[in-house]
Amino acid sequence: MTGTLAGHPGLPRLLAGLDQSGRTMSQSEHERIHGALPHLSAHELIDAVQASGLRGRGGADFPTAVKLRALAARRRVSAVVVNGSETEPASAKDRLLLSRLPHLVLDGAMLAAEAVGAREVIVKLNERAASSLHAVAGALPLRQRDPVPVRLIAAPDGYVTGEETAVMHFLNGGAPIPTFVPPRPFERGYQGRPTLVQNAETLAQLALVARFGPRWFRELGTVADPGSALVTISGAVADPGVYELAFGTPMTDLLAAAGGATEPLRALLVGGYFGTWVDSASALGLRLAREDLRSVGCQLGSGVLIALGESACGLHESARVASYLAEQSAGQCGPCVHGLRAVADSLEALADGGAHPRERDRVLRWAGEIRGRGACHHPDGAVRFVESAIEVFGGEIEWHRHNHCTARPAGLPIPASASASASASASAFRSAASEAKR
Ligand SMILES: Cc1cc2nc3c(=O)[nH]c(=O)nc-3n(C[C@H](O)[C@H](O)[C@H](O)COP(=O)(O)O)c2cc1C
Ligand code: SF4
Repeated sequence: MTGTLAGHPGLPRLLAGLDQSGRTMSQSEHERIHGALPHLSAHELIDAVQASGLRGRGGADFPTAVKLRALAARRRVSAVVVNGSETEPASAKDRLLLSRLPHLVLDGAMLAAEAVGAREVIVKLNERAASSLHAVAGALPLRQRDPVPVRLIAAPDGYVTGEETAVMHFLNGGAPIPTFVPPRPFERGYQGRPTLVQNAETLAQLALVARFGPRWFRELGTVADPGSALVTISGAVADPGVYELAFGTPMTDLLAAAGGATEPLRALLVGGYFGTWVDSASALGLRLAREDLRSVGCQLGSGVLIALGESACGLHESARVASYLAEQSAGQCGPCVHGLRAVADSLEALADGGAHPRERDRVLRWAGEIRGRGACHHPDGAVRFVESAIEVFGGEIEWHRHNHCTARPAGLPIPASASASASASASAFRSAASEAKR
């Protein structure tokens, strides 16, 4: 399911013209809806993006104009990389954009490439995203007027493979695992040169800012969080799917857009598996705005919202996800490899009722020790998730010691091949990677 909140003025933007047929929007339809790609100088584009307040939608929430300006000031920028990895299992927004609206994302990539003087655009996709690969491969030959060549590269799945240094390492011929920073890709990335990495949604939003301007962009949202966002809503809702919503929208309206809750809610997971559980009583009073989310210690991340019904068990669901995140460690940093596994095992023991309640304190202590001790933010995101699980569901630990939990599985998605860690699959990936050259 895709859509927006019925009757919301000014929406949809990104998803304008999209129906429920599942087909890819043609180039002519795309241009009929959004108009032709405008020609802007680097200054004009970057100033417009800055005035719009657009921030990255890949999870880090970084101001897009700051990155564009830093790259534009550098010489010999090798590429703009469209990060379409979407390795967050509960997210489907980038897949939706790339499989149904590839021209919008490619427009954004072209504009960014011209602004930073990049020699090429690389669209890096998850090899599991067959419909995205198909749609982008089909769109590229039609874009005769594009000033910069585009390559499409498929890479293996795995939670950390979408992290920007992992993307660089893979494109440079290595395993899709994060590398130590600095250098960051904007300093030394693809081919050892400065590289701009942007999430697919960020580039789609940029394409709209270039066409309609920053004032138009700010007609939706709040002063601090302008515009709209794609949110993947799942769990105990009637119509799970990707929805385009204005920043500032109340959480209750987000759920209403997805058909409403199918049962009383216990909690919401905001921000995906690097995100934060929030008790439903607090969560339902929030708006989709950084200020509100921060007040309960969370952020939107890559735009994922999971509703957990009262019939599900937050402890068991969290233990499954923590175990998945531990498996996804790239196997390079001790605290990440061993610490996340130990935390996940303890959480599982607490959920199964087989651990002394003091185990809870050990989990929290370990979480504190792991934070900040990896080359990338994987352990930080994982421990944030675990700490929030303990905070929201910790009161149920004692009950689980003395009772048999018969809660229904809530079905938080865990990819089928999750038992293979990114590091274990690293040697197999290159042969599997397919590449379509324009
Ligand atoms: C473990 C990990 C996984 C990530 N996976 C993705 C991903 O799948 N897609 C994505 O766009 N960004 C992902 N990111 C964020 C990227 O490193 C980077 O910040 C982003 O692609 C930059 O684009 P943006 O500024 O447009 O958000 C991930 C980060 C981490 C720490
Ligand atoms: S922190 Fe974990 S995922 Fe990140 S590079 Fe180190 S081992 Fe890999």
